[in-house]
Amino acid sequence: MRGTPSDSGQALFSRSLESFLAGLGSDGLLRTHRPVTATDGRTVRLSDGRTLVSFASNDYLGLGAMPLTVSSDRSSSSASRLLGGSLAELHRAEEFLADFFGYPEAVLFPSGFQANVALVMALSRMGLVIVADRQDHASVKTGLRASGARFHLVNHLSSSHLEKRLASLGSAGAAVFTEGLFSMSGKSPDSAQLIEITDKFGTILISDEAHALGVLGPEGRGVLTGSAHIVVGTFGKAYGLWGAFILGPVGLHDLMANGAFPYVYTTAPPPVLAALVPERVSHAAQMDGERDRLLHLARRFRQALSDAGVSPENVSGNHHITFVTVGPRATEVSALLEERGLWVPAVRPPTVPVAGLRISLTAMHTEDDAERLASTLAIVL
Ligand SMILES: Cc1ncc(COP(=O)(O)O)c(C=O)c1O
Repeated sequence: MRGTPSDSGQALFSRSLESFLAGLGSDGLLRTHRPVTATDGRTVRLSDGRTLVSFASNDYLGLGAMPLTVSSDRSSSSASRLLGGSLAELHRAEEFLADFFGYPEAVLFPSGFQANVALVMALSRMGLVIVADRQDHASVKTGLRASGARFHLVNHLSSSHLEKRLASLGSAGAAVFTEGLFSMSGKSPDSAQLIEITDKFGTILISDEAHALGVLGPEGRGVLTGSAHIVVGTFGKAYGLWGAFILGPVGLHDLMANGAFPYVYTTAPPPVLAALVPERVSHAAQMDGERDRLLHLARRFRQALSDAGVSPENVSGNHHITFVTVGPRATEVSALLEERGLWVPAVRPPTVPVAGLRISLTAMHTEDDAERLASTLAIVL
């Protein structure tokens, strides 16, 4: 029977939402949508018509503006892979990824968030203890809590804390999560040290290469790709697409099919994604010119920050992501930058321990853009 939602239910929703948002508002943590009418790797156009230079895009190589090069006779996979049948196109893309990155198996996912939740859940259901960095992505932390995993968080990039924690686990099998380039601190782990520690304790090493892929390592293959036992990669950042994948040992598909609800109970990624993947990943591999430009720009930017007098103690990041710690004024500083034509949204707890600005450079930015941001920041901070 058709009707309209009941007034009492509607009122309950409004009351509950109001008090929930008021709580966040009083803590300065309320988040709102900012409509934009266009975005590329360098700018955003706001709905009021202003175009700002954006430092919030993960379109590191500018591939997000590439036209789609394939057509598909289907727009959807229409069912989960276990019920509807596992489409040959998905397997072909997975074989390409496994081969390209040098792993026995690759599994496609609709998103990186889902891939991480699935992986944490599956590893934990195999009886492994998960050890994650405190700054691992929210998807890893969501997976830890949602799956009831036995887990420990270690201080950001602290090898001594990691070693101590692994030593305390005794004979319990453990899986260590890290990121090839941490999305918020902009730092990479010391690969050699991490591999040495995880080898010493016989643990499984997992690296989320979301922000490294396409940019860091030969052909943009990432930081720990090849050394980590399992790698999570996303297509929505440097590859300019959407969706994600996991690379890993023989048995990865079986593990996902049997241990990971976010893989089992979801519609499979569409064939059109699978058709785009080989060309896009191969294309990105050829973009050494953009990679060099971007990493050069990142060095220039950090130098410009220091020349402008921004305290190095508040600046972190070794590559194309820089985090500037601001504290409670982060939202105000972001608004001041916006008034001056620069789009750098504030990032607040719980995403980061102390609020600040996450500055993401892309190969589309110019040296002028980077220098302008550095000098403006020095004024408004
Ligand atoms: C490190 C990291 N992992 C995973 C994800 C999630 O990827 P996706 O955007 O494909 O869900 C993100 C995205 O913000 C990320 O920064």
